[in-house]
Amino acid sequence: MAPMTRLFSPGGVPTPSVADYYARRAEGEVGLILSEGAVINRPASSNDPNVPHFYGKKSLRGWKLVIDKVQASAGVMAPQLWHMGVVSPKDSGWLPSAPFEGPSGFVAPGKIGGVAMTEHDIAETIKAFAQAAADAKALGFKAVEIHGAHGYLIDQFFWHPTNQRTDGYGGQTLAERSRFAVELVRAVRDSVGPDFAISLRVSQWKLQDYAARLATTPQEMQAWLVPLAEAGVDIFHCSQRRFWEPEFIGSDLNFAGWAKKLTGKTTITVGSVGLSGDFLAAFRGEASTPSSLDELLRRFDRGDFDLVAVGRALLADAGWPRKIREGRSSELIGFTKEALATLT
Ligand SMILES: Cc1cc2nc3c(=O)[nH]c(=O)nc-3n(C[C@H](O)[C@H](O)[C@H](O)COP(=O)(O)O)c2cc1C
Repeated sequence: MAPMTRLFSPGGVPTPSVADYYARRAEGEVGLILSEGAVINRPASSNDPNVPHFYGKKSLRGWKLVIDKVQASAGVMAPQLWHMGVVSPKDSGWLPSAPFEGPSGFVAPGKIGGVAMTEHDIAETIKAFAQAAADAKALGFKAVEIHGAHGYLIDQFFWHPTNQRTDGYGGQTLAERSRFAVELVRAVRDSVGPDFAISLRVSQWKLQDYAARLATTPQEMQAWLVPLAEAGVDIFHCSQRRFWEPEFIGSDLNFAGWAKKLTGKTTITVGSVGLSGDFLAAFRGEASTPSSLDELLRRFDRGDFDLVAVGRALLADAGWPRKIREGRSSELIGFTKEALATLT
């Protein structure tokens, strides 16, 4: 199950309904459930009071209920640990207790929306990720995923337009701008020990620019991902909007295919699996209908990637994996925006 923000955790505390929602996915035979993004302990890590926290007694108690219910249904789960970085305030007007923080204060190219982090802020943020990972392990989760994608904090360090720093956390090359992520992964690895899986979600595209690319050649991708693998990443979760799109000219390999080839690590592919339209179209209100899995299976059977993340199809239908396994394709329901309104 792909991580999907649901906004059903008032004050950052996952409720029993959230636990039941994830347990239903375990009952539906999801192999690995990745939680919605859960924010780490920094004053401005979130722009919405209904996004779950992964810190504080009450929130961690809520997560304990989640993992206990998921495990009672034989599920395996990892929380996705998140810091949004510099983001726009929501229409509700809610704001965190401190200004949004990021590498250089940019919310988008050329647009300031927060403050530049000091080296002390960076160190505290890394510590907060490591603490959240340790808490995840102590609560009984089987892995953690670090959200390094989609233009949020970690990705703001990767991306040159949002990282204009002149100290050791900035630089002209993607490899130089990866230092924050490398240190963060290393700290998470130290906190969970060697036998606990760490997934890092990465993407070329950003919410600020769907066409953005961090790595424009396989060489750049290698210089970006290999140091992260060496720092402790076990799984690269390669976020694309459409899994069938080739990453570089001259090969039909997608992002997960290249990441696996270049790092030798386990990879997850994602993006419009089993659905006709991508998720940004879905936010515009376009419905997505069930679609064939043949192309996905061709790539999987070829060994391009190891795991497949499914987002909206599973948000709408907890029983999706079992229906697929049993070949009950006429019972698949697709996805419409209305599915976002409830925790079914
Ligand atoms: C409602 C919704 C919330 C999402 N929230 C997150 C999130 O918290 N973290 C994340 O990494 N991706 C998030 N995504 C992206 C999904 O994980 C996934 O990559 C995307 O939906 C594409 O997969 P799909 O086409 O199977 O839906 C979200 C997507 C949706 C539809």
